[in-house]
Amino acid sequence: MDFGGWLTAQAEHREQSGLTRHLVESDRGLALLDLAGNDYLGLARDPRVIAAGVAAIERFGAGATASRLVSGTLSIHTELERALAHFTGFPSALVFSTGYHANLSVVSALADSDTLVVSDAHVHASLIDACRLARADVTVVAHNDVGAVEAVLCARSQTRALLLIETIYSVLGDAAPIEPLAAVCERYGAVLVADEAHAIGVAGRGGRGLLSHAGLSGHADIIATATLSKALAAQGGVVLGSPAVRDHLVNRARPFIYDTGLAPAAAGAALGALRVIEAQPELVARVREASAVLADACRVAAPAGAVLSVPMPSPGAAMAAVSTAAAHGVRIGCFRPPSTPDGTARLRLTAHAHHTDNDLALAAKVLREVAP
Ligand SMILES: Cc1ncc(COP(=O)(O)O)c(C=O)c1O
Repeated sequence: MDFGGWLTAQAEHREQSGLTRHLVESDRGLALLDLAGNDYLGLARDPRVIAAGVAAIERFGAGATASRLVSGTLSIHTELERALAHFTGFPSALVFSTGYHANLSVVSALADSDTLVVSDAHVHASLIDACRLARADVTVVAHNDVGAVEAVLCARSQTRALLLIETIYSVLGDAAPIEPLAAVCERYGAVLVADEAHAIGVAGRGGRGLLSHAGLSGHADIIATATLSKALAAQGGVVLGSPAVRDHLVNRARPFIYDTGLAPAAAGAALGALRVIEAQPELVARVREASAVLADACRVAAPAGAVLSVPMPSPGAAMAAVSTAAAHGVRIGCFRPPSTPDGTARLRLTAHAHHTDNDLALAAKVLREVAP
């Protein structure tokens, strides 16, 4: 089969399985109430955040112009790193051009051939790809199963170990049992790498994340990663940990070393968003209030953060629910296999701090209709 024929066969297979994906421009057509995006605190269009991004681009230019180790480290990077570390309670931080790069970096640079990487079955694709990149043995354990983690850490032959989790999972929206997992890691000399992408700005005191909430953010063997593209409304990623971890990543993480530094506008906007969250912790309370209203309408338990997951009978039913909701003015997302870790089709909804009571009432009415 030639290349064109192969592409056609692949497309037909996707179509038959109900798994074809399309890119839809969201800035055209009808404005819908957004319950699909990850701008949890509504800061992407906040004038203070936009002004901070504009000020950064005016001062530092459109791009960082080089990789961080060449001449692409700008004072806005350092300022953002200090602010992120201070906010989350970690001793130091290193920013990346995406959260994907942050996850690729931390695993590939910290695992070697004498390391066992233990990964929760539901971690984000970036951590799965990070495992593929690392020259280490990888064991996937059942979701949130502390006993399974303990069993593999205890039985390992490798000297070192890393455990990969998310503190709030991106698809199911549930929280990890962080404290028992941290205790098991400590008992068996493993480093805990926790992705706080869906917790920063949303969970923990004033949105400081769940590691900070558990008093674990200053621990030498605990590392957090996060994206700057969800509650922080910008673009980019961060690794939070000890200064020694930061130095190691600067020297060894290929997705950091061979990548142009984070764009100034993104760094400035993320810094602006962080300042808003610090000044207005009530935004964090509001997003949690909104997620409880949406959960009630969908007849599912209130989530740990802003992500709600509603199981659907089939990929087709999930797509139909998305279309019906859109026809009623509400944008919801859906995940279909293979994007769902447990192979089920799901609606994925996100709560937002800037939605008004009227917005929430409309959302609840529509969700009652389309949720099973
Ligand atoms: C849990 C998790 N980690 C990492 C990422 C990647 O972050 P970014 O979009 O900044 O590359 C995402 C984003 O989609 C995510 O949900």
